[in-house]
Amino acid sequence: MKAAVAEDGTIRIDDVAVPEPGAGEVQIKVAAAGLNAADKGLITGHYIRGTSITKPTASETATGPIRFGMEVSGVVSAVGADVSGSAVGDEVMARANGAFAEYVVTPAADIFAKPAGLSFTDAAAVPVTFITAHDALSTLGGLQEGQHVLVNAVSSGVGVAALQLAKLLGAATIVGTARNRDRLADLAEHGIATDLALDTADPQFIDKVLDATDGHGIDVIVDSVGSPEWAQHLQVLAIGGRLVSVGRSGGTSADVDLDEVARKRVSLIGATFRTRSREETSAVVRRAADVIVDGFAAGNLKVIVDRVFPLEDVAQAESWMTSGKRIGKVVVELS
Ligand SMILES: NC(=O)c1ccc[n+]([C@@H]2O[C@H](COP(=O)([O-])OP(=O)(O)OC[C@H]3O[C@@H](n4cnc5c(N)ncnc54)[C@H](OP(=O)(O)O)[C@@H]3O)[C@@H](O)[C@H]2O)c1
Repeated sequence: MKAAVAEDGTIRIDDVAVPEPGAGEVQIKVAAAGLNAADKGLITGHYIRGTSITKPTASETATGPIRFGMEVSGVVSAVGADVSGSAVGDEVMARANGAFAEYVVTPAADIFAKPAGLSFTDAAAVPVTFITAHDALSTLGGLQEGQHVLVNAVSSGVGVAALQLAKLLGAATIVGTARNRDRLADLAEHGIATDLALDTADPQFIDKVLDATDGHGIDVIVDSVGSPEWAQHLQVLAIGGRLVSVGRSGGTSADVDLDEVARKRVSLIGATFRTRSREETSAVVRRAADVIVDGFAAGNLKVIVDRVFPLEDVAQAESWMTSGKRIGKVVVELS
């Protein structure tokens, strides 16, 4: 089968063996696959693996040709032993490694039904960002109904998902922020609502957030940016607030006022699937699945697909993904 492979930062299409499902796994004939910011790390070889409690060693960093892509939509084409609840012919979407290929294999526990009204192209853009956003808000962030949420980098895949899921999960106030004012207007044009849309450089940033939450502050921040915004985030966090570090597109080091962390009793929570066991990952996926499937089926969630490319043009798709010119997701169609 054809599959995209990256080596030394260059992407090519190789012929590789079709993967067969093992126990507890399904094989999916891929219809479409979504790109994510994390694919860049895989392509450039800066994808850190490992579950040790110290920083991963060089031996845990990816080397040699590597398959990338993390999410697909498609049709179940084979099931392994000990799989119940999935059958050949099911239309599904899933997190799946090596997604830019004609077939993938992934744990059966990690797939979920594609809502009938969602195209395969749109469905391919859902799993990673919506599961990540649900994990950040609910599993890690402990969002309760009536609490206040801030989502930064709102034009990112994760941002678009988090804004909508926060609303579905009952957030009282949803603040969306971007470093680029146009992004806020783009989002509004796509019908993605926020209670307060803020440019992170706004000199009144902190006052405006506090006003919007009646002085309470933000209970859960979904942070895809990192360094440049941590000081500001710490100031707007409520007493007992949670900052969930999903991504660090703007940088990885920040000065943190630990006195304020202690005084406000805030939690700084790291988020990744890389150090989670397969069972823990499946539990996170299952927790998110019903909310996501029901949300799309009921028309309460939408995905923004910015551009679609054929598999042969996956390198151009990746260039467009990192161009800084898009909003939402980039998808590669397989058939
Ligand atoms: N923890 C997890 O399990 C997990 C899962 C998925 C993704 N992630 C991470 O979450 C983040 C978002 O992922 P994605 O796929 O949704 O990304 P994406 O769609 O590629 O969006 C990236 C965003 O980062 C912003 N950005 C880039 N450089 C920036 C900078 N220097 N300062 C401020 N903002 C900057 C961009 O804003 P502009 O539009 O202004 O350029 C854009 O909104 C990434 O860091 C990714 O690695 C984590």
